[in-house]
Amino acid sequence: MLSRNFAELIEKKKSGGELLEEEISWWIDGLVSGSIPDYQTSAMLMAIYFRGMNPHETAWLTHCISISGDIIDLSSLRGVKCDKHSSGGVADTVSIPLIAIATSCGAVMPKMSGRGLGHSGGTIDKLESIPGFDVNLTPLAFADVVNRFGGAIMAQTGDVAVADKKLYALRDVTATVDSVPLIASSIMGKKLASGTDVIVLDVKWGSGAFMTSTLEAIELAKTMVGIGEDNGKTTVAYVTDMNEPLGNAVGNALEIVEAVQVLKGHGPAKLVDVILTLCDEVLMQSGVAHKREDARTMAIDAIASGNALQRFADIVKAQGGDPAFIDRPEVLPQAAVTRPVYAPCGGFVTSIDAKGIGLAAMHLGAGRRTKEDVIDLAVGLVLDVKTGDAVSAGHQIATVYARTEGDAATCEQEILRATVVGQASVPRWQTVVAKISRADGVVTYEQS
Ligand code: URA
Ligand code: CA
Repeated sequence: MLSRNFAELIEKKKSGGELLEEEISWWIDGLVSGSIPDYQTSAMLMAIYFRGMNPHETAWLTHCISISGDIIDLSSLRGVKCDKHSSGGVADTVSIPLIAIATSCGAVMPKMSGRGLGHSGGTIDKLESIPGFDVNLTPLAFADVVNRFGGAIMAQTGDVAVADKKLYALRDVTATVDSVPLIASSIMGKKLASGTDVIVLDVKWGSGAFMTSTLEAIELAKTMVGIGEDNGKTTVAYVTDMNEPLGNAVGNALEIVEAVQVLKGHGPAKLVDVILTLCDEVLMQSGVAHKREDARTMAIDAIASGNALQRFADIVKAQGGDPAFIDRPEVLPQAAVTRPVYAPCGGFVTSIDAKGIGLAAMHLGAGRRTKEDVIDLAVGLVLDVKTGDAVSAGHQIATVYARTEGDAATCEQEILRATVVGQASVPRWQTVVAKISRADGVVTYEQS
């Protein structure tokens, strides 16, 4: 029976009960219309955080989020439409090179992306550092770029999954972000509204991720794969490492430079590993390749031939950007101050706290504390080491790009705090930990 008073519904979840479909619908409708005040939603979020949701509740919450705003119609686009989504990370410059590589091989990737918040970056902010690049395409212009080049990237409009915007803002200030049902419904609610046929997910685990253990990340991945498949979308998830930053660059223009390095064939190994793993999946699920080995060969050839880089230039131009930065990175926003950071002693890099590094870049102005913050596209940092590397005292481990000497000095201290150098050698983090997919109704888990 439908509880009439929303406080009773909070009470029900608080004491471990199951929310019915009509109760979840009532909540989300009330959240969007304003008839249920934010303080009651906040309390419900905390009850869900502690009590969880069963698969049916999570699936229905996802559905309610997905229909809370516009549903994007991509039916005018040819081919199997493929989307990729990361659960959020540091130096996570995957989407831009992935789209260039996969579309140059024949995949179709109409991508709607978000902005960064807190220690994690967003593709739309990174693209805005390219002079002239327009992230706010009309649906018609977006479809035109995708039909010509196989891919385009635009900012998710405020009219898609409206409930998620409100929920996320409340979760952000009530310490209820890192909950499997809340993350799964947030990500998949947006994905279901964005109209693609295939969804490839990159679920991060580790100190820089919302999921701080592999078990939690695998549970999140299974939940999202189940929701996607139940809604008729081919959905595959990879669990990847976010205990240390993925690439080397953290900061918007700096990450565009790193994306170009990947497309020129000299990107950092760990970043390239994730990009190629996800690209294999995109090419196979799109029907462009039938075997993983063939997909990998196509992607490597696309980089070696320059086709992937050319595709990036084509998409940039089609979205109003000037591709001059590809050969002249100095046309991108430049920071006034650069400062090298040196290892304080010799030994082995024992850990590089991804969240600490993300926050260090955020404090420089590369990221947002709150949604309203204005970011500086030029600032950030570039790391020169990974966990497990041997360093000598005075070995350069990073470069800071800052607005002022004071900011640079603060950031240097934050990098040194986040980067532990010890005497014993430690193993490197495994980059790709597991793949989660569903075949014949069974969610399978393959350890890498
Ligand atoms: N990314 C999202 O879009 N939502 C979350 O809840 C977490 C990461
Ligand atoms: Ca956790």
